[in-house]
Amino acid sequence: MAKVRKIFVCTSCGATSPKWVGKCTACDEWNTYQEEILMKETQQEEKKKAWRSVSNGTALTVPVPLPDIKAGTTHRLVTPNGELNRVLGGGIVPGSIVLIGGQPGIGKSTLMLQIALELPVKVLYVSGEESEEQIKMRADRIGIARENCYIFTQTNVSKILTEAQKLKPELLVIDSIQTLSSPHIESTPGSVSQVRECAGELQRFAKETGIPVFIIGHITKEGSLAGPKLLEHIVDTVLQFEGDRNYTYRILRTIKNRFGSTDEMGIYEMQANGLREVSNPSELLLSQKDEDLSGSAIAATMEGMRPMLIETQALVSTAVYGNPQRSATGFDLRRLSMLLAVLEKRVGFPFGQNDVFLNLAGGIRVDDPAIDLAIVSALISSLQDVSVPADVCFAGEVGLSGEIRSVNRIEQRIQEADRLGFKRIFISKYNIKGLDPERFGIRIVTIGKIEELYRGLFE
Ligand code: TYD
Ligand code: MG
Repeated sequence: MAKVRKIFVCTSCGATSPKWVGKCTACDEWNTYQEEILMKETQQEEKKKAWRSVSNGTALTVPVPLPDIKAGTTHRLVTPNGELNRVLGGGIVPGSIVLIGGQPGIGKSTLMLQIALELPVKVLYVSGEESEEQIKMRADRIGIARENCYIFTQTNVSKILTEAQKLKPELLVIDSIQTLSSPHIESTPGSVSQVRECAGELQRFAKETGIPVFIIGHITKEGSLAGPKLLEHIVDTVLQFEGDRNYTYRILRTIKNRFGSTDEMGIYEMQANGLREVSNPSELLLSQKDEDLSGSAIAATMEGMRPMLIETQALVSTAVYGNPQRSATGFDLRRLSMLLAVLEKRVGFPFGQNDVFLNLAGGIRVDDPAIDLAIVSALISSLQDVSVPADVCFAGEVGLSGEIRSVNRIEQRIQEADRLGFKRIFISKYNIKGLDPERFGIRIVTIGKIEELYRGLFE
């Protein structure tokens, strides 16, 4: 008879404890312990034995001097999906394991099925969430018919891997890790030990066969991947699919990448027939309007290696109920408070008595500090009710004493603004070094302090 033992596992770091504890001693997180049924003792013993025989037996690999290792021989599988190639660092690496996280309903299954259909090679799409008919209906919506895309509805990881061994696809997609279960473990699907075990088995499969595996993972309300952080350590690449449900734009962001840069980003638009790649985001993120309205300013930002012009909108109005409100969509609220404090202290604008609402067009979240200058301009514009000319854009970081700091890749930003027909760009005066203003058609206005911005723009 197999013996069943219960333990408590931290959902954040995977640490275990024989009894429940409020605060994890390993990662200091609160309320993360969950009860789990541990692997059957007998099987654990078996596993230990198997491991011993491997480690005692013939060595699998021997140490090799670094110069003898041949590099650059990995051929990436370049997909027809340009945005996906971009976030992966140039295509799918053989034997790699990629995790795609995102909130329910954001479009993870749609994205993966679409990629599976677009690829001209043999793909196995495993779903533990939907029936074959449901997937067929989705594929019909996407509208690509592909003979070598195989659908398998299964949740048992051993069966999945057996079929995958037989079929030998060039890509394996798992939708989703939380529905999988391994027969070696007794706890329910989605629990920490199941997720960890299944991911481990998939990883072994990927490394042994060289078949890349894409795993879809759900995200909890707090925004972290459900299951332990450990999952992020197991996989080679973590992509996050995000977006505002009320908008159609979706962003695929690289969180971790062993084979490329992590500040890349892919943009899609969710349409009735699947996801459309947005290769030129600027034109979408600038709202179409004819007249000049106050409270709006354009920022020349960078997302990864790609320049992107985005509209920032502010609404400043008198606070009716004692406590002024602050709200920001797509921008850090604390950073907004900081910018308001700088404006109040350095230029003397009375933001303290006003409600302030800030919004970035398209439901996009921007972390680039160069957006500060546009936000400050939008705030002043709304407060004073004077519009910023439509052919002006901004790229600069605002420091605590109101100084305008230089930002990276200024040339690319200016070029993009120039290409889109802007006539003036405001940048930091510290950014002008090594830059030849004559090279660009756009006029470059340099400022050093926030007061100069006001004078340069509105006076
Ligand atoms: P889905 O891929 O099921 O999300 P997830 O797997 O992340 O939970 O996405 C679903 C949403 O996308 C759903 O609300 C319907 C919508 N959708 C479209 O707008 N167009 C389409 O072509 C498809 C297939 C789905
Ligand atoms: Mg899904």
